[in-house]
Amino acid sequence: MVEYARRIGRVQGSVIREIFKMMADPRIISLGGGSPAAESYPLADILAISDELLRDQGIAMLEYGQTTGYAPLREAYLEHLVLPKGIEAEPQNVVCLTGSSQGIFLAFDVFLDPGDTVLVENPTFLAPLNLLRKAQDNIIGLAMDEQGLIIEDLVEKVKKYRPKMLYTIPTFQNPSGRSLCAKRRQRVAELAAEYDFVVLEDDPYAEIRFRGAKLPPIKSFDTAEHVIMLNSFSKTIAPGLRVGAAVARREWAAKLELVKQGADTHTATLPQAICAEFLRRGLLPAHLRHIAPIYEERYQALERGIREHFPADTVYTRPDGGMFVCARLPGRDMAQLNRRAVSEYEVAFIPGAPFCVEPGEGADCFRLNFSGSAPERIATACERLGRLFAMA
Ligand SMILES: Cc1ncc(COP(=O)(O)O)c(C=O)c1O
Repeated sequence: MVEYARRIGRVQGSVIREIFKMMADPRIISLGGGSPAAESYPLADILAISDELLRDQGIAMLEYGQTTGYAPLREAYLEHLVLPKGIEAEPQNVVCLTGSSQGIFLAFDVFLDPGDTVLVENPTFLAPLNLLRKAQDNIIGLAMDEQGLIIEDLVEKVKKYRPKMLYTIPTFQNPSGRSLCAKRRQRVAELAAEYDFVVLEDDPYAEIRFRGAKLPPIKSFDTAEHVIMLNSFSKTIAPGLRVGAAVARREWAAKLELVKQGADTHTATLPQAICAEFLRRGLLPAHLRHIAPIYEERYQALERGIREHFPADTVYTRPDGGMFVCARLPGRDMAQLNRRAVSEYEVAFIPGAPFCVEPGEGADCFRLNFSGSAPERIATACERLGRLFAMA
């Protein structure tokens, strides 16, 4: 038989994809996914915008487009999501992406040779871990506390490993829900300049805030232009549109564009135009105001459920936004409990180990999503999980 490429053996199946399959079963209450609340999709706006775009612009919406992105989206992204955050940038600094996950792929492709060192928060998002493992890069995990990655640990590891890149999710991190405080964001930008590494700032959740003050992106402190900021419309408009964007120094944006050319030529025009119009018509702020209380109510239901039903030694994070709470049941095997939760209690969550850098880490941790289920279903799920965990 024809053999697969050796690198494919290093790619793990995504537990999240498996959970997505389970979510199709309506009996399962899923605290596993990472999608917006079904009720929150701005369907009527998207319908009206697409109708107008196709009617008024015709085949321009269906032609090949530019690799760097649909020009009105690059401009609207700058005007609404970059410049107001204190970042200086022009259209030449922007590349539109097929989801921000493409930005992770492109940035790794542009900067990393096999064996290069990348620092990541530990735990972190599965997609970059898989890409880095596949490419045989050296992945070093960073310790976190309630304020995000710990600067002393970062400094120590920067000096020791001389990394090429830091991949970080500074706001409502996946899976922990934690946010990096402003002082540390500034320090990260300073360290990147001082020790000459790239910061890949993956920030898809920043706009989903239901309490607390907004935090400036690391990119806003980036006077030496060492930061690539990635944003996504998946969590704020709709994930199936597959639209994201990157802002970086001109030469780096040009390199991302070069690699994107070979990856997919360009991001589909109609979804880009929908996002551009959504921003241009000023619909995003109202939409975010609409979804924040929905997410807050769901988060409160989860927090209450954990407090009332989970064992007394449960440790968990308390985010001000985003979609996830990370919890720990010291000493328990959460992969095994997840299997029992699904088969016997019809509740799904994601065990923590796959988010961790080293094998064996995070076995007693798990991620709970609060955006995807109604408060009553979250309460029921917590009550059922409480019964299961009481026996563990
Ligand atoms: C941290 C992080 N980055 C990127 C993504 C991917 O987003 P997109 O749909 O824009 O590719 C996700 C999705 O779950 C995520 O959690």
